[in-house]
Amino acid sequence: MLGAPGVGKGTQADLLHRRLRACHLSTGDVFRAAGTRADCEQSPAMKEALGYMRRGELVPDSTVWDMVRERKACLRCAGGFILDGFPRTLAQAKLLSELMESEGLAISAVVNYELPFSDIVARLGGRRTCEQCKTVYHLTERPPRVDGKCDHCDGKLFLREDDRPDSIKVRLEAYERSTSPLIEFYKDFGLLVNVEAKGSPDDIFEATFTQLEARRVRQVAQKAWVALEDHR
Ligand code: AP5
Repeated sequence: MLGAPGVGKGTQADLLHRRLRACHLSTGDVFRAAGTRADCEQSPAMKEALGYMRRGELVPDSTVWDMVRERKACLRCAGGFILDGFPRTLAQAKLLSELMESEGLAISAVVNYELPFSDIVARLGGRRTCEQCKTVYHLTERPPRVDGKCDHCDGKLFLREDDRPDSIKVRLEAYERSTSPLIEFYKDFGLLVNVEAKGSPDDIFEATFTQLEARRVRQVAQKAWVALEDHR
């Protein structure tokens, strides 16, 4: 999944994960989970990564890559896999291509969510996350039933450190500089699926799912056509 910070990748990944039973690998979630460990359990590389994250900067490619490689079993999930927040630089995208090739796997599609920056800033500023089960809410767009409490587990909702205005600015700049070039990169591979991220999460999910299904049907038809031609 591609898209600027706060565009709704995590929200959509969660809905897709429920529908497809696919493994959801979010590098941001992996870093945040590491941040909740006791200080003595955090490696120097992880402490450094958490510093970058708090400031809204990208974590160095080598650290991200180590974390992804440790979780490569995810790529073998029977329901498939959803990569959310990774890759985020051209170097990461190239490493991912190599990994996929060595594992004999292929990416089916790269969904790119599009939304004007003014809407993105409003989404990030109003986001609240459950400290226990990590469900994501929005103060006005997706409010919890009880103020400050998670609907699912009653956990306390908190404002992410990197959702403060100074970090949001740094994140959006990092996206423009380092991540947005991936749109062209994946377009050149014929993998890009653009989805407008306006409307309710359910509407966006339906738009995503419909496009992915149409793409899958086209791919199956193409394969069948090639097989038929070979047979003739
Ligand atoms: P990460 O956790 O990946 O953050 P991000 O990409 O900045 O994305 P967000 O989680 O902020 O937003 P989202 O698009 O998932 O939106 P969400 O669904 O929550 O990464 C965090 C940090 O980790 C990075 O800054 C970096 O430091 C580091 N990092 C991670 N991966 C890295 C990598 N590969 N390389 C280097 N560094 C890396 O939605 C946002 C809000 O909008 C929510 O409140 C939600 O309820 C609301 N919302 C969602 N959909 C809608 C809708 N349709 N209408 C109204 N509101 C909506």
